[in-house]
Amino acid sequence: MKIQSVRGMNDIYQPEITLWHEIEESIRQTCRAYGYSEIRTPIVENTDLFKRGVGEDTDVVEKEMYTFSDRNGDSLTLRPEGTAGVVRAVNEHGLLNENPMLKLYYIGQMYRHERPQKGRYRQFYQFGLELIGSDHPLSDVEVMALQQNLLKKAGIADMIKLHISSVGCSDCRPQYKEKLIKILEAKKDQLPEDVQKRMYTNPQRIFDHKDEKVQKIAADLPVLLDSLCEKCSGHHEAVQRGLKVLKIDFVVDPKIVRGLDYYTQTAFEFVTDKLGAQATVCGGGRYNKLFAKLDGVDTPAVGFGVGIERFALLMEQVKKPEPPAFDFAFVYPDEKGLLPCIQLCETLRQQGFRCEIDYQGRSMKSQMKRADRLKARYAVILGGNEIEKGVAVVKDMTAQTQQEYDIKNLVETLKTKVGAK
Ligand code: HAM
Repeated sequence: MKIQSVRGMNDIYQPEITLWHEIEESIRQTCRAYGYSEIRTPIVENTDLFKRGVGEDTDVVEKEMYTFSDRNGDSLTLRPEGTAGVVRAVNEHGLLNENPMLKLYYIGQMYRHERPQKGRYRQFYQFGLELIGSDHPLSDVEVMALQQNLLKKAGIADMIKLHISSVGCSDCRPQYKEKLIKILEAKKDQLPEDVQKRMYTNPQRIFDHKDEKVQKIAADLPVLLDSLCEKCSGHHEAVQRGLKVLKIDFVVDPKIVRGLDYYTQTAFEFVTDKLGAQATVCGGGRYNKLFAKLDGVDTPAVGFGVGIERFALLMEQVKKPEPPAFDFAFVYPDEKGLLPCIQLCETLRQQGFRCEIDYQGRSMKSQMKRADRLKARYAVILGGNEIEKGVAVVKDMTAQTQQEYDIKNLVETLKTKVGAK
């Protein structure tokens, strides 16, 4: 059997990789501006981290994890998300002792065994960030503002809408949950098996059920947003005020259901109608109880994760990915030109100019064709004849004009043509 990539796991290369680099560069720049530093945690963690952190009743833990025993018989899992690993690392290294308000970001692969389709994969990349140590509503606003900024820079802010909600806390959520369970119990015979199964552990999941009949039932159910305690509703109001001050458009969407169990109070999603079924480009919220749950000191935190594939798919709709153009393509009409060409090429590359040279020993015509395909700004032609005359021919590939230049000052001449690097 021919060996192929694993289903739902993709190779990323030109031209898309150019967009990915742009996105990653923009992420790093933006995170720097907001004071976030990078953290890299392992892709593999102990399975218990996710069972305890993400929650055993979630789809992610119940059905989607890549879990295996290693040679010692330890149960390990390919990370399905980044937050649990970051919290573990912060606890393990006592990072909050040095900095009680810690701002961390990460970019990396995550793994979920979902049914692959456009925008949904089994290996996907996430950019995520965590603001740890503050329960101030404006810290929720800050993380949303950062994400909004990224979307603006990428030129895709118009395609995306911010939805916010609150999932309450351990004071108000249990009461609401009880109320919801009672109502669902009364409608039990109208509910499909999966909803019945989840009814007692995670009844709110009914709000993101795909079945239309279930959706109809869900439409009439009370929402948690109407049963928030004073503290949570105050927090929710303050978040909205902050977003308005920063002129970030949003809608309050009481039906947001986050697929991970650790959320408290603010939950939010940046949603698009341009990606078919995979509408959520970014999801996040506050998780004030996760640190304690993972053996740390009780610490409030807020953060989000963005699917980079989804971000790139949206960017492709406004911008064609183009590999960076070359400054110079060196062309040698005969073997005598090859070594001088390589020398010049190397000198210019060391100074940051993007240069290419053909090693396939092809005709001058083929080399020129390649220079054209690579969108080189100039072709530098140097063979036996030119060396004898002490010149090189420089062809402007846009204007289609060419001129001879003294070989002695060629590097300086070429540099002035494309400007400093
Ligand atoms: P999440 O909502 O599970 O949150 O994932 C965040 C984003 O990752 C999604 O909005 C989506 O863009 C992308 N994503 C998720 N699954 C897939 C998939 N199978 N294929 C492609 N993209 C996908 C989290 O993971 C939380 N850790 C976010 C967070 C950080 N909350 C607080 N801090």
